[in-house]
Amino acid sequence: MGPGDLEKVLTGIPRKPQSKKVLVGLDTLDDAGVYLIRRDLALVHTVDFFTPIVDDAYDFGAIAAANALSDVYAMGAVPLTALCIVCFPSGEMDLEILRQMLRGGIGKLREAGAELLGGHSVRDKELKFGFAVTGAARPSKLARKSGARDGDVLLLTKPLGTGVLSSALKAGLLPKKMEREIVKQMTTLNRASSQVMTRMGVKACTDVTGFGLLGHAYEMATASHHTLRIDSSAVPFAQGVLEFISKGVFPGGLSVVREFLEGKLRVEACVQDERMYGMCDPQTSGGLLMCVPEKKINALMRAIQRTGSKQAKIIGKVVRRDRVPLVIY
Ligand code: CO
Ligand code: CO
Repeated sequence: MGPGDLEKVLTGIPRKPQSKKVLVGLDTLDDAGVYLIRRDLALVHTVDFFTPIVDDAYDFGAIAAANALSDVYAMGAVPLTALCIVCFPSGEMDLEILRQMLRGGIGKLREAGAELLGGHSVRDKELKFGFAVTGAARPSKLARKSGARDGDVLLLTKPLGTGVLSSALKAGLLPKKMEREIVKQMTTLNRASSQVMTRMGVKACTDVTGFGLLGHAYEMATASHHTLRIDSSAVPFAQGVLEFISKGVFPGGLSVVREFLEGKLRVEACVQDERMYGMCDPQTSGGLLMCVPEKKINALMRAIQRTGSKQAKIIGKVVRRDRVPLVIY
């Protein structure tokens, strides 16, 4: 669902947790819920499943797992276990497809050091696949959407454009080589970047997924009561993304994000239209968006480029709350 719809649904729903052990609950719309089980140990819970975005069943399983694990990494936690969620048109679709998806998913979970404990399957007209993941974190190391502070530098660890390129793939417009690239990007875990982040004590992070870079940046800005200033020319895009956008190839979800953000951001005249669209592109298994204290940014950037994402880029800055939560220049 789009960000606007989610806000509507949650209006009037009791969101304040009853227990003090809930460190992150419904009230803050963070990437995952966090429950304290010991003074120095918390469990982190998240779930994510969706319809196929690539043709290869094994790849799709791996993407679904990397995407589900991502919310655990965004919180600064380590994944432990997973449960599989399957909606499958049995009788109409070859069971081998599901077997391959599971293989791809389990392979990715193993890479992350997480164990698949079980799952649940439902017969459904439309295939859907994903995981509920449980992780562990030190409460003092948690990274939240509300952690952005004045002067922090914005860091994005993966280029944008998986939504646009998936649309191009569906339309039969994506060359094989670019398809392989994008699959590789979506199956790349955010693990190494997350480890660097927790090691260096970064306290503000989210992963860029369905609401696009700007939708998730907006969430961080409002949760932190600050304004995020994003330099559109510094935002990294995967190869071909801006060209496809200029030809009108992009997913419907992109327009939903754009409409949601209307009135919530200021866009300077210099910002290229294609980049503005691209920053609203819903991502699958996107990168981490971190707010990093200025004195830590150089060391962190070096560490991330060494062990995490070579494509990580500095894309802006956190400033004191302006009239709007987002300024794009
Ligand atoms: Co998330
Ligand atoms: Co999620």
